[in-house]
This record gives sequence, structure tokens and C-alpha cells, in this order.
Amino acid sequence: MTRAGAKGAVRPRLIGDGTVVPLLPEGEAPYTNLDYAASAPALREVAEAMAEFLPWYASVHRGAGFKSQVASAAYDGARESLRRFVGARPDDTVVITRHTTDALNLIARGLPEDAGVITFAFEHHANLLPWRGRRFRHLPIPPGPEEMLQALEMALEEEPAGLVAVTGASNVTGEIPPLARVKELCRRHGARLLVDAAQLAPHRPIDMAATGIDYLALSGHKLYAPYGAGALVGRADWLDGSPPYLQGGGAVEFVTADGVLWKDGPDRHEAGSPNVVGAVALGVACETLSALGMPALVAEEAELHAQALRRLRAVPGLTLYSTWDFEHPHIGVLTFNLRGYHHSKVAAILSAEYGIGVRDGCFCAHPLMLHLMEVDDAQADRVRREILQGRRIDVPGGVRASLGLDSRAEDVDRLADALAEISLEGPRWTYQADDEAGTYAPSPDPRPWPQLPPGLRLIR
Ligand SMILES: Cc1ncc(COP(=O)(O)O)c(C=O)c1O
Repeated sequence: MTRAGAKGAVRPRLIGDGTVVPLLPEGEAPYTNLDYAASAPALREVAEAMAEFLPWYASVHRGAGFKSQVASAAYDGARESLRRFVGARPDDTVVITRHTTDALNLIARGLPEDAGVITFAFEHHANLLPWRGRRFRHLPIPPGPEEMLQALEMALEEEPAGLVAVTGASNVTGEIPPLARVKELCRRHGARLLVDAAQLAPHRPIDMAATGIDYLALSGHKLYAPYGAGALVGRADWLDGSPPYLQGGGAVEFVTADGVLWKDGPDRHEAGSPNVVGAVALGVACETLSALGMPALVAEEAELHAQALRRLRAVPGLTLYSTWDFEHPHIGVLTFNLRGYHHSKVAAILSAEYGIGVRDGCFCAHPLMLHLMEVDDAQADRVRREILQGRRIDVPGGVRASLGLDSRAEDVDRLADALAEISLEGPRWTYQADDEAGTYAPSPDPRPWPQLPPGLRLIR
């Protein structure tokens, strides 16, 4: 099924699709969400399942009541749905976390003392910073996938590593590293492979067992289940052999005045009352995406991505960023800048005048953005000094448009038409820079805010 038709012709898959937002100088328009890579709306099935599950919500694992038993079974069922969705091995542990960042910090702490880690500098900060407390090497950003493999092989030959941690898909450029070949190198050199699947999981089918991925981290809020849960899936031995991630109830077998017997398995790292609703939502999202068919979604997105590339390349003054050739496989994530415009101003205009939601900045991948924008060390140093003085407006950045389940051809056209208009005619409203925050906003901004339920307080 192609979703290239007019909005409304196809039943939206996501909650909030078609929400009308106010525009400047006047009027309103259906919101065009092109910010899926940051966080995705809930799948309709997920929201409906949650409404039905909430009456059954109760404490899990230790509750004796009937509802507790139902809720516990649903919580355990969510682990199973996750396991199937990513093709995990039967003996892999599935730890429910808050998000990918949490999952990566968890495995970083669980790493054996002597296991070195290798990453590439194109990673999201979540897959760079947790390793810095360990024996780590960040390899420079390679100019292509072959160079990536060569650099990794050389690094592994030079000094063995316990773990190679790579993104499944870049949140800035959308590129998909050659994971199967990375795994082959890991296998030859006795390293394990961790994949940061925050971006990969919503866009591509994953088979951990077949690919040989040892650990996988993902976030529910990027997988159409924004209820606060994520997961770390992978080999049990390091996790069972490491100190509990959180220390408290639920993670222990037995505690005496001077001793504690910790549990093994996921409970060991899930102390405290878990996010049952988040985990169950994530499980339903996995089941729903599987039923929709990930290969079909990949084909839909490939069509839209090709259209986006074609249309954006034709916008006067637009620079598209890519680490590798655009012929290389990409998910639907595109980062660009418009000549003569600050990235935040472009994003503010798209939102205020066209009702298009994108993200701008460095996307929590500063080393990659500095590389893409060819910022040298001296410039980076100047930016750093300015930030220390409270000035952020010259921090380099870009604008990111990202596609998702309810993206359609008309969304891509709307973005490209808007960018062409901005480039050729300029904005129709006035915008004010906030040097300290490093952002632009409409000034004045008379757009009315929505009426939200009582008890939901908005601070502006
Ligand atoms: C590739 C990648 N890894 C990790 C993360 C961190 O995800 P979260 O904020 O859900 O922890 C993100 C978020 O944008 C991401 O895109």
C-alpha cells in the first residue's frame, strides 16, 4: 500500500495525525510532522491498547491480587514481544530501561573491567559518552563504509577490544553502517557487537540472532510507544556478572544486615517499581509494527526518501549533508542548511508559517556535525569559549527532517515548497534571535495555544 495519496485518504496510523496548528501571519494548517527521529507519536493500536490495559494496571511481580497477576503477565509478555521484534536469541536478556541512553549506560557499566570499547566519532552522544569512563577508542569518521571496515580491522589488530559499539542508523544523515560486515570483523577478532538501534528499529527489520548482534539498545518513544520505556537486549553473562544498575527492591533475592544476594536476569538491573505501562506499550508497538510488516514499511520509506532527496536538491541554496555517498543505504533522515539562514531561523519559519515540525541544532552528535560542517579545531575552540561566556547563537548546526509511519508524498512536497519559498522570497514574519539560547523565535508570537484538559498546566 502506498501512502502517497492526499492526507485523510488513508486511515492515519498515528495519534495526532492531522492536528491543526496556528500559522503566522494568520490561518492554520494540519501539522506536518517531519521530526520522527527525535520522538514519534503513539501508534493508534498502542494508545487503544493502553486505554484497555489501564483498568488492569497494578503492581507487578510481588502483588498477590488478580490484577497484579494480569499486569505481571503483560509486563513479561512485553519482553517476549521485544525479543521477537529484534530476533533475539532465546537466552538473551531483555532489560526494560527508560530509553536508549539508559540502556547504553547500563551496558557500559556492565562491561568487564578489561574489555576495551571501540566506537566511531559519528555516533550519537549516547553511544560516545558512556564509554569515556571505560577503556575506549573513538575512531575518526570514515569517508565511506569500506574505510570504516578497514579502520575497524586495523584498530582490532592493533589492540583487541571486548566490544565494538556502532549505531544502526545515523540520527543526522540516516546512513546505515554495514552491520553484517562489522559483525564479521568482530567475530574474527573476538569482540562483541553492540548496536545503538534508536533509529534503526523504527525503520528496518532487525534479526539479532542472524546478524550476530550481541547487544541492542532502543527507545519506545522513537518506536511509536512514547510511554517512557526502552530496552537493552543481549547476552546475559556480562549483565549477570556486573553490579546491579540500580540498587534497591526487586533486584535482590535476599538481604541481611550486612549482605545482599542479587538476582540474575533482567530483574537484577530493574530495581524499583518498573514502568509497566511503558513496557507494555513498547510490546504492543513491536507487535503492531510486525503485523504491518517492516519490509513493506521499508519500501514505502525508500520511495519517500528518494522523493525528498530529489526535491531538496532542487531547492536554491540548500546544502544536504551526508558522510557517505547518497547511494549508500539510508533511513528517512535528512539534514541540511539553507544559504543565508541560521538553522534555528529556518526551523522557526517552517513551524510558524507552514506548520511543519522539524528539528535543528547538532542533534546530540556534535563531533559528527562539526565534521559535516567542516568546522576546524580553532573554530570549535572559539565556539566552546563562547558557550562558556553564555553565547550560543554561533554554535554550528543544521536542520533535520525525518520521515515516519504517517509521512506522505505531500509532506515532502510541502517541506520542499516551503524551503524554496523561504530561499527565494524570505520569511513573511519577523524573528528574533536569542543569543544566549542560540535560537530564533517569531517576534511577536500571537499564535493561540490549544485548550488542553484541566490539570494539565502549561508554563510558557
Ligand atoms: C542514534 C541515537 N542513539 C541514541 C539516542 C538516544 O535516545 P534516547 O534519547 O531515547 O535515550 C538517539 C536519540 O535521538 C539517537 O538518535
